[in-house]
Amino acid sequence: MKFFIDTANLDQIREAQDLGILDGVTTNPSLMAKEGISGKQNILKHYKTICDIVPGDVSAEVISTDFDGMMKEAGELAEIAPNIVVKIPMIKDGVKAIAKLTELGIPTNCTLVFSVGQAILASKAGATYVSPFIGRIDDMNWDGMQLIREIAEVYSMQFSDTQILAASIRSSKAIVESAAAGADVVTCPLNSILGLLKHPLTDIGLAQFLADHKKANK
Ligand code: E4P
Repeated sequence: MKFFIDTANLDQIREAQDLGILDGVTTNPSLMAKEGISGKQNILKHYKTICDIVPGDVSAEVISTDFDGMMKEAGELAEIAPNIVVKIPMIKDGVKAIAKLTELGIPTNCTLVFSVGQAILASKAGATYVSPFIGRIDDMNWDGMQLIREIAEVYSMQFSDTQILAASIRSSKAIVESAAAGADVVTCPLNSILGLLKHPLTDIGLAQFLADHKKANK
């Protein structure tokens, strides 16, 4: 399973990249705003900086909701670097834009996906990635992980090339569950990735090994 980091924070992106396990980055307009990045030129510049840090796929989201606007933005974003993936919302013009961008050879990430039907449509349009939002489904007292399982089953039956990118992940446990549910990619905050490292028995075991070594090598 690929690991993407879900942030526009450069320090966190650098830290994840330094770990040596990072496959890409996802951002969205809220994450860009959180870092105080505003204005078209600053936004494009920020994406360029991210692409310089991470060689893997970097999802950059369009703001337009009409076909022409999305296509214009997609062209500008795709020019930033070869590893840009244009993130397009699951709306009618979005599906049309994904189909056109696929025809033009520009990779896409279909975002804001909450049902198997939407995932089927994204795949049919040729999306490189489909992003089901696990945490937001759980917020509605529903089962986000079940959606990953269902999309994985349907994509497998249909021999879909679209990669399932489990998004809106808020815990280390959800990373493990995404892997077991059949996600191809998980995008999550840095602390959820680092949380995978932790186990008390690892700490106890290491302390014991070091103490025994010290005793024997006095
Ligand atoms: C990633 O592509 C999504 O934009 C992101 O995971 C959404 O996460 P959230 O529901 O925690 O805002």
